[in-house]
Amino acid sequence: MRIQNSWWPALLLGSTAAITVDPTSSASIKSAASTAAHGLLTFYHGNETGQIPGLLPPPHFWWETGGMFMTLIDYWRYTGDTTYNSLVSEGMLFQTGPEEDFMPPNQTKTEGNDDQGFWAMAAMLAAETNFPNPPPDQPQWLALAQAVFNEMASRWDETTCGGGLKWQIFPFNNGFNYKNSIANGCFFNLGARLARYTGNQTYANWATRVWDWEASIGLIDTDFNIYDGATDTTNCTSIDRLQWTYNAGIYLHGAANLFNFTEGSTLWGDRVSGILKRSSEVFFKDGVMIEQACENGNNCNIDQSSFKAFFSSWLASTTILAPSTASTIAPLLTSSAKAAGLQCSGGADGTTCGFKWTTGAAYDGTTGVGQQMSALGILQSAMVQIPRKAVSTGGSTGGNSGGNTGSSGGSSEDDSLPSFAPVTNTTGGTSVGDASAGISKPGGYEVKEIKTTMKDTIAASFLTVGIVGSVIGGSIIMVLES
Ligand SMILES: *[C@@H]1O[C@H](CO)[C@@H](O)[C@H](O)[C@H]1NC(C)=O
Ligand SMILES: *[C@@H]1O[C@H](CO)[C@@H](O)[C@H](O)[C@H]1NC(C)=O
Ligand SMILES: *[C@@H]1O[C@H](CO)[C@@H](O)[C@H](O)[C@H]1NC(C)=O
Ligand SMILES: *[C@@H]1O[C@H](CO)[C@@H](O)[C@H](O)[C@H]1NC(C)=O
Ligand SMILES: *[C@@H]1O[C@H](CO)[C@@H](O)[C@H](O)[C@H]1NC(C)=O
Ligand SMILES: *[C@@H]1O[C@H](CO)[C@@H](O)[C@H](O)[C@H]1NC(C)=O
Repeated sequence: MRIQNSWWPALLLGSTAAITVDPTSSASIKSAASTAAHGLLTFYHGNETGQIPGLLPPPHFWWETGGMFMTLIDYWRYTGDTTYNSLVSEGMLFQTGPEEDFMPPNQTKTEGNDDQGFWAMAAMLAAETNFPNPPPDQPQWLALAQAVFNEMASRWDETTCGGGLKWQIFPFNNGFNYKNSIANGCFFNLGARLARYTGNQTYANWATRVWDWEASIGLIDTDFNIYDGATDTTNCTSIDRLQWTYNAGIYLHGAANLFNFTEGSTLWGDRVSGILKRSSEVFFKDGVMIEQACENGNNCNIDQSSFKAFFSSWLASTTILAPSTASTIAPLLTSSAKAAGLQCSGGADGTTCGFKWTTGAAYDGTTGVGQQMSALGILQSAMVQIPRKAVSTGGSTGGNSGGNTGSSGGSSEDDSLPSFAPVTNTTGGTSVGDASAGISKPGGYEVKEIKTTMKDTIAASFLTVGIVGSVIGGSIIMVLES
């Protein structure tokens, strides 16, 4: 359904409609985020009797709940509202799978490296924010992220393209011959964050290797465009040049973590500012975020409709890890948050969010998890530009106005806000890790076997089962329904 005008929502719903947010006020941002979060949770039933924790209803793919939990951990982090914490914990722990690596057997038919990666990044965020730890007999956030990192490292494939991760984990899933930026971006982002969190250089080395590989085949070019992926059957010689917000965000945030880990190296600083400069040209229209590859043509699918949520989150986190980016990022966050809120004027409640934020306040008539999650992502991310005393770290600061020098001005400082700085295992992080989690666990998943399994025979036997197709990143993903 699509409603094609700009007067309808205001006329029909009156002046109480929409989520108005004053991005200079932490109270206003909290209230706006709370409204958007409530709307998002109306799509989730995993906490209801008889439902499966951690699953959004079909046709949502499994990964999207991981993305939603990531967004809800940020929600708690930025607003302090604990309403959804137990539902998030329950869902994440339910989906870890028997090997404690986010590979539940039920999801084998759709799970790619990126799908697993989104759940792992949610776990990593939980560790970095000291999200309440699971009971000791349950998998722990940090160890879950390490398990996925270790498995991805074991899947690094040098048989084609000089390296890289394939999109898919399993040869029988469509896309096994595609090496893409999001799968490799998940690995890069996890490596960068694990390096910063644990101080273990091995993680940083892997992250560097991923970046170098992406650059070597042209998936990241010298202008910091980040392209979708390439087919490995032709040795990645031809690139799918679609650009998505989440690819820019995942590399930006990973680079910001390595910039921070290396205590401000020029190498990673240049990469952070390079991606940021290019992103602000490609993914913003008059200061408002846009998923330009599909939004202009009104053909974003269910997955793509959620990408702006993650881009928002990673932009916000980048300002914390590389504070000199705040002067560029803060205005983009505030103008996008205002615009996103204004078009959240659909539905009976007058606060349902559509997808297009560039409409000049008009609700575009669409609803969904992605729409709602993207709006929540940008609204809560605006919190990072509120000046807060605790933001300066290290040593005793004389004054209390040093704060966030990158703020766009006019905001009142909120001394009650925490610094939002992600913790590490030497600065208060409490999540228990396991450097050898994942494949090396007794009875753990045998990843090597998959790397060498021949694809076509298995694919043939699965393809008889009935297929639902959906486009992610310009390529086809198949869901085999049994
Ligand atoms: C599930 O979570 C939603 C959102 O917090 C809440 O409104 C609902 O009451 C919960 N349902 C159950 C059965 O706990
Ligand atoms: C897997 O599917 C079965 C059957 O529908 C269900 O009982 C179980 O809870 C599911 N487990 C997960 C982790 O989704
Ligand atoms: C495939 O690409 C890699 C990386 O660019 C290159 O090193 C390798 O020589 C290529 N292989 C073939 C067979 O062209
Ligand atoms: C932090 O993690 C590293 C790498 O796993 C480990 O060597 C170190 O002992 C940890 N430090 C603390 C304080 O737990
Ligand atoms: C690393 O992150 C911390 C926490 O946000 C910040 O205070 C510090 O300035 C950052 N380091 C660099 C080199 O920017
Ligand atoms: C660092 O990480 C690597 C890769 O996971 C692991 O093999 C190694 O044991 C870790 N070192 C420490 C000190 O934890």
